[in-house]
Amino acid sequence: MTEETATGFAQWPLGNGPIGEPLDRVDGQLKVTGKATYAYEQRQGGKPLYGFLLGAAIGKGRITAIDVSDAARAPGVVHVMTHENVPEQGAFGPPVVPNGYARPRPVLTGSAVQYYDEPVAFVVAESFEAARFAAGLISVHYDRQPGAFDLTADLSKAYKPEKLNAGYETDSTLGDFEGAFAAAPVQIEQTYSTPYECHAAMEPHAALALWSGDELTVYMSTQVIANARGALAATLKIPVEKVRVVSPFTGGGFGSKLLLHAEPVFAALAARELKRPVKVALTRQQMFANTGFRPMSIQKLRLGADRQGRLTAIGHEVWSHTARYEESAEQTAVFSRSLYAAPNRLTRHRLVALDLHRGEWMRAPGEAPGLMAVEVAMDELAEKLGLDPIELRMRNEPAQDPERKVPFSSRALVPCMREGAASFGWDQRNPRPASVRDGRHLIGIGMSATIRPNAMRPAKAEASISADGRVTARLDMTDIGTGSYTVLTQIAADTLGVPMDAVTVLLADSRYPQTAGSGGSFGAASSGTALHYACRALRAKIVEAARRTVGSPFEGAELTEANLANGEIQAGNKHETLADLMPLIAPDGLTAQGAAEPGASYKAFSQYAYGAQFAEVAVDMDSGEIRLRRMLGVFAAGHILNPKIARSQLLGGMIWGVGAALMEENVVDPRYGQFVNHDLAEYHVPVHADIPDVEAVFLEEQDDKGNPLGIKGIGELGICGAGAAVANAVYNATGIRVRDYPITLDKLLPKLVRNDREI
Ligand code: MOS
Repeated sequence: MTEETATGFAQWPLGNGPIGEPLDRVDGQLKVTGKATYAYEQRQGGKPLYGFLLGAAIGKGRITAIDVSDAARAPGVVHVMTHENVPEQGAFGPPVVPNGYARPRPVLTGSAVQYYDEPVAFVVAESFEAARFAAGLISVHYDRQPGAFDLTADLSKAYKPEKLNAGYETDSTLGDFEGAFAAAPVQIEQTYSTPYECHAAMEPHAALALWSGDELTVYMSTQVIANARGALAATLKIPVEKVRVVSPFTGGGFGSKLLLHAEPVFAALAARELKRPVKVALTRQQMFANTGFRPMSIQKLRLGADRQGRLTAIGHEVWSHTARYEESAEQTAVFSRSLYAAPNRLTRHRLVALDLHRGEWMRAPGEAPGLMAVEVAMDELAEKLGLDPIELRMRNEPAQDPERKVPFSSRALVPCMREGAASFGWDQRNPRPASVRDGRHLIGIGMSATIRPNAMRPAKAEASISADGRVTARLDMTDIGTGSYTVLTQIAADTLGVPMDAVTVLLADSRYPQTAGSGGSFGAASSGTALHYACRALRAKIVEAARRTVGSPFEGAELTEANLANGEIQAGNKHETLADLMPLIAPDGLTAQGAAEPGASYKAFSQYAYGAQFAEVAVDMDSGEIRLRRMLGVFAAGHILNPKIARSQLLGGMIWGVGAALMEENVVDPRYGQFVNHDLAEYHVPVHADIPDVEAVFLEEQDDKGNPLGIKGIGELGICGAGAAVANAVYNATGIRVRDYPITLDKLLPKLVRNDREI
């Protein structure tokens, strides 16, 4: 069932049911009472063996000898796997599809070391402690070779990837960028850099593998069941039907659990060999090198404008790293193709192959780092023009998508900026930097635009109702802490006209209909639409059964789906609850399927969610310490399924943006290729004391172009532009523009002293 017309989707009438209500999470109680079972807590298959990974102590080179004899003799150890005895696996090879999700991801493939901390051995023992202890007894000899670990060392080695992540074109041009930029009376030309960042999800990557004959079940922490299943089958060279992947709860992913990594492969290989369940979790430290990370970027911005502030040329060029052995090409400048009007345009992405692990998608890949350059360049341009930054953005509103030349499905950037400016008190901002003081603090206010694509991926779902009137929904969608269980329960209840507590949503099992899982902010729109259609079909079946069943109180009645509401069928003066009716009209229950996919409207319209972010900071004049004082995000993202959960999502993204601006940085040792700060003591993220006052609000938005519920993705919206708003506030406070993130106090301090004297 789809209801797409040339102009959009017939919208499901909202306002009668639980969609849009700020309900508590249906799984909240399970979580706070410790009853939500995560991968490492699973107990299926009886007492497991425990695995521990040993990582390489070099960044590039070969293993010349590996001696496991002491480890193998250690107490409790049952097996040690190295490249010398690892079972056969599917070959890694060059990807058939760039960035393919379901390609083989074999482990211990040979003596070569491709990145620091790459697994070189796997110890299996009766306890985690025994395995970890024994891993320390393995003696590895290496022939260390010089590696390339520094993106900035030689950008002339950069190459042009064929495509970017998600299939975006590598470059784009429109008009004559170089000519228009050269001729522009007002120009900004600046280079910005964003560092490597780690997802650092609260739940470390973990898996429990067990075999029954030739059938494998893996309980693991993942964002996308089908990716894990397909990649496991390809790696183990077994049919995909022989693999079951289950992940009822996932403790955060942020992109690091989209792809299969080493730990489920090790668990599956060892469990097959040892004929016992094997459980493995990465340590926090191991996550930094082994689960992907946000690639570093160097971004050159060139903005040309006339004296009225109308952009004539926008140029956004990006250099980032990729692993030498597998390409990943972040789409850092892609949003620049849509955000502002300008007749002459250029975006370009180049990669430098380094001897580091693969960069991977990380919350708002593209926009999160890209906006930290573009939206600061816009701030710089506004200052040069003597224009208010919001006014500058308004003067460059495009009437349609500037490069795709299609209409916007909806575009609420200006309303978000207006609403934010009014609520935040933007008029209190002094445009002259370093001119507002509060005691020993310099005070500044900054803003940024927010943009994030509204995406959809194919998804299927099944809904059934049993004889007792209870509804069960099944789909392999995951809940990575985002609230999938809750919003899908709301969608099922609303669509079927039954109470929330009549619905059970079962997720994240490869036995259920396939979805695209959680990623790219497409989860709710894709899975939600599929489930909505399944429930629509089920609703029709229930009503039809009530009408057709001989002896039904509604036999032969004129019924439509509208006669089903509040868990009852009502017609004339008769009403019967589904619980009373079902044994009569369908004693074996009823089941229906639904499917969703991105429709023609995705091609016909430019679809994004928008927002505007505002931040106020205080900078200590003596220490350079930057404290966020308050922050506001105003967002327009279609119909909000659950404002309470959505607000949490947005706040989480905004707070991450504060971290990106001020704290987060994975530092690579350029000699050895190691991430030196690989734990949460030294990899800094904001804590409660760093976030005194942050608020996210939604503007009402009706957008019928994506799906029948008017959903737009919000998972990644909050981080987009958040860092730039903070960076612009720091500049407004201090008059110091730090273009290499994060903006740590050491980068401010030398220049702050001068300002101090001047004030
Ligand atoms: Mo997201 S970076 O697609 O989890």
